[in-house]
Formats: sequence, structure tokens, C-alpha cells
Amino acid sequence: MTPGEERTALPEPFATGPDGVTVHGRPVAEWAGRFGTPLYLTAEHRVRENVRRLRAAFAPCWPTYRILYAVKANSNPAIVRLLREEGCGADCSSAAEIRIAREAGVPAAEMLYTAAYPSDGELGAALDAGLAINLDDPALVERLFRLGQPSRLSFRLNPGPTEAGAEGLRFSGRQSKFGSSLGAALRGYRWARDRGLRRFGLHTMPGSNILKPRHFGGVGRFLGRAARRVARATGVAPEFADAGGGLGVPYRPRERPLDLNRTARELTDGLRREGSPAGGFELWNEPGRLLVADSTLLLTRVTHVKPGPPNFVGVDAGMHTLLRPALYGAYHEVYVAGAPRSGPRRRTIVTGPICENTDVLARGRYLPELRPGDLLALGTAGAYGFAMASQYNTRPRPAEILVSPRGARLIRRRETFEDLLVGVPASPRPRGRP
Ligand SMILES: Cc1ncc(COP(=O)(O)O)c(C=O)c1O
Repeated sequence: MTPGEERTALPEPFATGPDGVTVHGRPVAEWAGRFGTPLYLTAEHRVRENVRRLRAAFAPCWPTYRILYAVKANSNPAIVRLLREEGCGADCSSAAEIRIAREAGVPAAEMLYTAAYPSDGELGAALDAGLAINLDDPALVERLFRLGQPSRLSFRLNPGPTEAGAEGLRFSGRQSKFGSSLGAALRGYRWARDRGLRRFGLHTMPGSNILKPRHFGGVGRFLGRAARRVARATGVAPEFADAGGGLGVPYRPRERPLDLNRTARELTDGLRREGSPAGGFELWNEPGRLLVADSTLLLTRVTHVKPGPPNFVGVDAGMHTLLRPALYGAYHEVYVAGAPRSGPRRRTIVTGPICENTDVLARGRYLPELRPGDLLALGTAGAYGFAMASQYNTRPRPAEILVSPRGARLIRRRETFEDLLVGVPASPRPRGRP
């Protein structure tokens, strides 16, 4: 294999072969032709499989395990509904996500609202919906209770210094804006308990895109110790311990998928080691990436080639379609989606149409010679893909389709010029000569 030929493996039902990239055996080029590009293509089968794999790993280790899908990863209502069909609850970070989850059929008892630095309006929406509320800062508890009493309350504990996940994303340690110390949380539990609240939980968010099961042993021990200290210091027995998200997926060719069976054993052994009996409380996870990332390709067409070096290949997607590479240097595999082309490969920068030098989707990739009209697919695009898309440079956001063996269904149409001006009052036509 020559340098750069290694590609991140595509999971079933995707494949690469003589027809290029296929989904359920049909070339993805068919769907790009029908729906246009850029296009987010999600394989329903993979989303379902991801939930089933996770549940199968945890069910033998903890009898009351619950998956709350982190809606922020991909809030398309069709995806949230699919996840509900698979039995997922919802972890919501805004009033709109609460509404999407409710409309997808998720009962309030299987939802959690966590927002950092929430407004009164958002806290009110979460209270009205009757779901459990997870406070990033225990000092917020007084403000929350002025608005109303939640059905259940938890505090997001900062797990302290831990290794950063891929892309250097940090959710913990002093420099992170998230979570609080256990000491501060204890004050919050006491305060709410003294005002009559009886139903509580614990929460932490351990990091992002973690691929080592061992890391989750530490998460289990951290939650187990916290549960013991909360019970001892306040008399509060948490009904749930939420281990957050952070379950990783491979983006790069040499990354190995997270071993979910080992992850489940590590996490639950960690809990037990700190004195939490299996089933003593519900164990929750709120994965986003693990459930949806590898279910989706972003299809994009080459618009222009500027030979180098460096060799720039322009495409019709960009940082406005998939922000992660520009935001934190994230890696997404690039596949030639049409029939494979022979010939030498060139080191290539794949860039979008946005007037920013950071508008790069992939850098230093060895790709065959490409021409305008060629179709590319960016891999692992289902989490924080469309969810972070914008209309920057006044460009419509792309369409999304959901594919099953029966065919493809449009789950969000491509935006139009009129969509870009929604909410803008019609302005009078300028008088005088054109
Ligand atoms: C509180 C919380 N829960 C869950 C998630 C989902 O994380 P992931 O997609 O890494 O599983 C996030 C991600 O930012 C989060 O902040």
C-alpha cells in the first residue's frame, strides 16, 4: 500500500467497490444525482445497530441501564424518532431539543436537561416539560427553585484533570467551563433537600471521543465515590448516575473502534469497587457521537481544481456544511464516491467555497486526479455535522436523507434563497432608476 492509500473502514451497510461507495449495495452516486449535493446521507440500519451494540454490552453488567441520546449531536426529528424506536431517552441542551424529543415520543421521565449557563426562559421550559434537570453549577439551584421545583435534580460534576479526547476537546479540569466540584454539589443537594425535594441524581461528562475502555473505569470509580459521599454527607440517595457521553468512534485510518463490552465492564466494575451495588441506582449514558457519527456520509461534488503545489480541490460543501475540521482540526476521511479512478495519487487539500482560509475539509490527503463534477464522500459525518451547519456566506444549508434497504427518504429539504431571509421584513423596492 502506498502512503495515504489507507482509508478509515466504512461500517455496514456502507461499502467500497467497483461502483465506488455504496449503501445497501446501491451506489451513493444515485442518491447524490437525485437529491443534489451537498447531501447528508444517513443509513438507518447503522443508527439502530449502534444502539443495539451499546445496550447489549451494558445490559449484562447493570440491570437498570438507560441510554439517553444526546440530541445535540444530530437533532433531525427523524433521527430522534428512530432512536426513540430503539428505546432511547433524550439528553437535551436547549428548549428546542426538549420539544423535538417530546414530539418524537420521548416521555419526560426518560429525559434530562443539561445546559451550561441557562437563561430563566430555558430553565422554565425544562420545568414545564417536567423532566429531570441537571445543573452545571449548584449556585443555580436557588434561581431554579424560584421558577419552580424540578421532578428530579442532579449536578454535573467536573471529573477533574483527565486526558483530553481527540481534537483536544476538554470537558474537565480547571480550564473547562463545565461542571462543579463535589463540595459545591453537596451544598446544592442539601439546599434542595431542605426545601423538600426528594428525587436526585448524579452526573458527569468525562470527555470527548474516548477510544480507550480503561478511561471508563476511572469514570465508574469517580461516580461511585461521588454517590457514596453524597449519601453520607447529605442523606440523599441518587436514583441515577449519569456517566455522560464521550464514547468514541474511529475517524482516522489507524484508530480502533471502542470495545463496548470492555467499556461496560470497566465502568460498572469501577462503580462496584466504590461500593455501588449493581442496580442500586439506574446507570445512564448520554452518547451522541457513538450512536450517529458513523451512520452518515456527507456527499459533495468537486467544483474546481487549482493544481499546486499545494493541490487545492474545491467542493460544494465547506465549513458552513461541516464545521468540525475548521473548528478543531477534526479529521474526516475522504472517499472518492464514484467509480474508483486509477493513476497516481496527489497530496490534496479539499476546500469549500467560503471566504475564509480556515474553510478546509481535509488536508494532506492522497487522492487521485479529480475533475469538476466528481463526487466525494466525507466519512463519519453524522454527529455534530448538520447540527453545526450554518448559512455563512449566505448559503443555504444542505438536504438530509435517510436510507434503508427500501430506498431513500428526504428528512430535511435543501434550503432555498427564501429560507435565508426568513424573519426579514420585506423591504420597499428602491425608488428611481434601477
Ligand atoms: C452534557 C453532555 N452530554 C452528552 C454529550 C454527548 O457527547 P458525545 O457526543 O461525545 O457522546 C455532550 C457533548 O458535548 C455533553 O456536553
